[in-house]
Amino acid sequence: MEEKKIVQIQYLEFEKQSTLSQNDFDLFEQAKGALKNAYAPYSNFLVSAAARLANGKILTGTNQENASFPVGLCAERVLLSAISSIYPGVAIESMAITYQPQNGKSQVPISPCGVCRQALNEYEIRLNQPIRLILGGLTGPVWIFDKCSELLPFGFNGSHLQ
Ligand code: THU
Repeated sequence: MEEKKIVQIQYLEFEKQSTLSQNDFDLFEQAKGALKNAYAPYSNFLVSAAARLANGKILTGTNQENASFPVGLCAERVLLSAISSIYPGVAIESMAITYQPQNGKSQVPISPCGVCRQALNEYEIRLNQPIRLILGGLTGPVWIFDKCSELLPFGFNGSHLQ
């Protein structure tokens, strides 16, 4: 017997950034503010992420490129590594991600690349807490996902190694 199965993903769309909750708006603004720390001379595509931690701290991370292209790191994984090193064992409540392309304008949300989804998923499992994602451009709508794992259906994880 065969059975068709369906995977559904839910997210919230805020048409206007100004209608976000104060906490989410502030975190998103912190991500925007940190765009200047991106090092992206090769793609000219700046990406920034800001995380609100369970201990109330906020940390930011930005993409860091390299002349040897594969050595470059995405903003999300730079941030995860920083959090894990500075506040080990502290869960991430929310992560805001924004970006600025070469023309200086961004109006649609981008979502983390596949490698970053894998890294975010591992963090959720490790700390046993979902990470809310707040995604948006410099202007335009914002999307909120309640957990990163929903962005990686059928993801590979440590339990598969048992
Ligand atoms: N990038 C990120 O930082 N995060 C993503 O989720 C997608 C891509 C960076 C990597 C590279 O420095 C630039 O954006 C262009 O791909």
